[in-house]
Amino acid sequence: MKIERFTFTERAVHWMTAISFVYAGLTGLALWSHKLYWIASVFGGGPATRFAHPWAGTVFAVVLGLMFRSWVSSMRLDAQDQVWLRKSLQYAMNDHHGVPDAGRFNAGQKMLFWTQAVAALVLFASGFVLWNPTWMPRAARLIAILVHPAAALVSITGIILHIYMGVFVVPKALHAMVRGEVTPGWARAHHRAWYAGLKGK
Ligand code: HEM
Repeated sequence: MKIERFTFTERAVHWMTAISFVYAGLTGLALWSHKLYWIASVFGGGPATRFAHPWAGTVFAVVLGLMFRSWVSSMRLDAQDQVWLRKSLQYAMNDHHGVPDAGRFNAGQKMLFWTQAVAALVLFASGFVLWNPTWMPRAARLIAILVHPAAALVSITGIILHIYMGVFVVPKALHAMVRGEVTPGWARAHHRAWYAGLKGK
């Protein structure tokens, strides 16, 4: 027997977010530092990269907005999540003693969601200023120059951790995001409160 973890729409939105994130991230890194400018050659050279980056960022912001709408109700942090976060180091060492049972998403996953949502908002607002500098006051341009790469670095660090967890640490998590289903054993082991809720239905 299999349990549905992610619907087709959730998976399609997630992978569109991932593709547009990688595209926007790599083109952005190429524009950010001369040491990384070589990346631009993969995207058709400097002018093509400069053209593609803000559009990839816009697609990313739109699909992340769709992801936000579909998951926000499952991502509210509660009192149990605060206990989970306090015990997160212990959880990382594979000692689950006293760590509260996770619902559909654990508190670490919820933190990733909120970090990406806030970072995307900052990236989009500051990116819009950098995209249209001639309309913008000087102060807005100065703030955007500082804030845009800072938000990108936070977001990229979060996603590197996310990929590490989803691909290398939690077995079968990637399968869940590709095929949409998990076994009851997986659900019980990783999201016990979610599994208990499904059984109770
Ligand atoms: C680029 C490669 C990516 C890979 C390989 C990947 C992998 C995964 C996997 C395996 C899951 C399912 C975890 C589970 O079943 O509990 C997941 C969920 C999720 N992904 Fe990704 N992801 C990627 C990119 C992104 C990006 C760019 C974002 C947002 C900016 C994102 C946001 C999320 C969120 C919010 C969830 C639900 C919460 C969580 O599981 O952390 N992912 N991803």
